[in-house]
Amino acid sequence: MNVAVIGTGYVGLVTGACLAEMGHVVTCVDKDADKVKRLSRGEPTIFETGLESCLSAGLSQGRLSFTTDTASAVAAADLVFIAVGTPPGPDGHADLSQVITAAREIAGALRGFTVVVTKSTVPVGTGDSIEALIRASRPDADVAVASNPEFLREGAALSDCRRPDRIVLGAEDARAHALLKDLYDPLIRGGAPVLFTSRRSAELIKYAANGFLAVKIAFINEIADLCQALGADIDAVATGVGMDGRIGPGCLRPGPGYGGSCFPKDTLALAHSAEAAGRPLKVVRAAMQANAARKSALAKRVAAELGGLQDRVVALLGLTFKAHTDDLRDSPALDLARALVDAHAVVRAHDPQGMDQAAIMAPELEMCADPHAAAWGADALVIVTEWPQFADLDLGRLKRAMRGATIIDLRNLLDPAAARAHGFTYVDLGRGGRESRTCDASPARAEGQGGALP
Ligand code: UGA
Repeated sequence: MNVAVIGTGYVGLVTGACLAEMGHVVTCVDKDADKVKRLSRGEPTIFETGLESCLSAGLSQGRLSFTTDTASAVAAADLVFIAVGTPPGPDGHADLSQVITAAREIAGALRGFTVVVTKSTVPVGTGDSIEALIRASRPDADVAVASNPEFLREGAALSDCRRPDRIVLGAEDARAHALLKDLYDPLIRGGAPVLFTSRRSAELIKYAANGFLAVKIAFINEIADLCQALGADIDAVATGVGMDGRIGPGCLRPGPGYGGSCFPKDTLALAHSAEAAGRPLKVVRAAMQANAARKSALAKRVAAELGGLQDRVVALLGLTFKAHTDDLRDSPALDLARALVDAHAVVRAHDPQGMDQAAIMAPELEMCADPHAAAWGADALVIVTEWPQFADLDLGRLKRAMRGATIIDLRNLLDPAAARAHGFTYVDLGRGGRESRTCDASPARAEGQGGALP
């Protein structure tokens, strides 16, 4: 099948590379000529495990190409995916200007029956608007407009694409459902469940899923704080809760608050569209408020442990919003770093992937080559991103490098007993009452393994 993908951001690039891997002929379009050149040489423009080899396989097999020419890519395509950005507008509504521009350009280039598919996360009714726009400008075109939301996580995007939990196909036209089903046939034959819905339902599934996951994270973060107050253990509590099949183990790891390019933006857009429809989502709003309050209180947590921040040296481990990505968008770590500097602390930061970009966005931070360099002369070490290498730190070496002895572990990565045995004052999220780990069924480990028991 011939496919055009408009937009080579996170979603468009990973989708295009995976569709080529499935055997389709894919042309990815971007307005940025430099990006197109880099991608045509097989250079990934984002950090994502496995992407480079997937790109080079697609390019060398002649199934994947990149261009700035929308018209020729669309004219040759059976399906055209719109995968451009939908950033928040000034009032929180999703800004659809890039989607509308793409739809106009697509309309002008359509040849033969074509399915135009939104991959971008768009408010309910956007498919209707795209269809109306195309029909108005090209009444002669044989076109169907569908919604096929993506559920990729950064850092696991290729595996999520190859083994999706579900494929949601929303359309009003049976031909669109049929063509999309054929497109995903390799994954469906591999066992991926498919849900055929209306276009509006598919659009809402995406927002509702992200809204629910954000609620789950905000909830477990509050439960972690309650564990701390009551002397319960969040690992055990989250595992026990997640073993209920109706709840599931995912998104039950406490942390510094959710960030990234999706949950903050999508909860805001969902809440706005619900309010505009006269059906406010109070639960989602509460999660947003709880998350914002958590993130803005992180510096106070550090200050409380250090008895103030003035001239304190803080080693900050992790800058990206989560591990296995170089993405700093809406990162709690970056917000915390800036708040610490604002309070006159010195921040010595290390991140395995995010430092180049962070040095531009926050030049006031001292970037350090590794965790031990960051710890040099520090009063406290704060772990903000769950990079696996931070779980294997040489605690003795860290202790010798630091001038203080406080570790604040905002991802519950370290073994509390080991940290305390090395003489650290160790602060985590809701595991305070426990001295040693007796069970290896924390949600972080059980996730994706069907809830392993000890
Ligand atoms: C999220 C969704 O998980 C994807 O299904 C969706 O496709 C994507 O948004 C999107 O809309 O494009 P992503 O933002 O890449 O994916 O990352 P997640 O792994 O979901 O993490 C989001 C945030 O929640 C991060 O800040 C992470 O640290 C935090 N988080 C996640 C927790 O604090 N605890 C958890 O248990 C899980």
